[in-house]
Amino acid sequence: MKKLIAANWKMNPASQKQAEDIFNGIKEGVKGVAVEVVICPSFVYLPLLKGLTLGAQDMFWEEKGPFTGEVSGAMLKDLGVEYVIIGHSERRKYFNETDELINKKIKKASETGLKVIFCIGETAQERDAGKKNEVLEKQIKQGLAGIDNLENINIAYEPVWAIGTGNNCSVENTKESIDFIRKFVKENTRILYGGSVKSDNSGLYIKEAGANGLLVGGASLQAEEFIKIIKSAE
Ligand code: PGA
Repeated sequence: MKKLIAANWKMNPASQKQAEDIFNGIKEGVKGVAVEVVICPSFVYLPLLKGLTLGAQDMFWEEKGPFTGEVSGAMLKDLGVEYVIIGHSERRKYFNETDELINKKIKKASETGLKVIFCIGETAQERDAGKKNEVLEKQIKQGLAGIDNLENINIAYEPVWAIGTGNNCSVENTKESIDFIRKFVKENTRILYGGSVKSDNSGLYIKEAGANGLLVGGASLQAEEFIKIIKSAE
């Protein structure tokens, strides 16, 4: 099973030109690497970027119809997009996405033939209350309810307190969480780590914490830094 290194560009960068420059820089640097690289830009940049595997950052659970502002899995598939991130903590926080809604999206994505990067993770408050594993279990069970075939599902463990803070999770704690998540999914489901991944910590998650890949936010907007991260996973 190849390692999966995914870039989550979030609502960045600010222009098409910048998006193309970052993308082309990454493309140059990753020729021939032995890991799977996926770039998840904003929806509006998806049709522009060619030559690396693309992922979306979200999708809606219906096929088409009166859902103003939404994008369907079928539309993504038609563009040649292969992956979709579902359940990111920023969507849970700012758009009130619940485990039930996330479950509907994962079901629809699987039906549509998209590969999913399903994000889970505890907040600092939940961690401090000793509820981390309870939260992870609930998110996994409810997010994947009724989905028997996990062939196209990847799980990203992203502690909310580690995202965009520079406060990445320790290797020991990441390993403990990955081992816990592994109890719910078979060996062929990749479990990624995400949260303040940089080139100076990325290799450790793969080599010591047992992660099958990484979901990288901020550091994936700098081509050189992201290439180093990718290479650290080989
Ligand atoms: P970060 O974001 O690497 O900037 O912490 C990770 C993510 O939100 O997926």
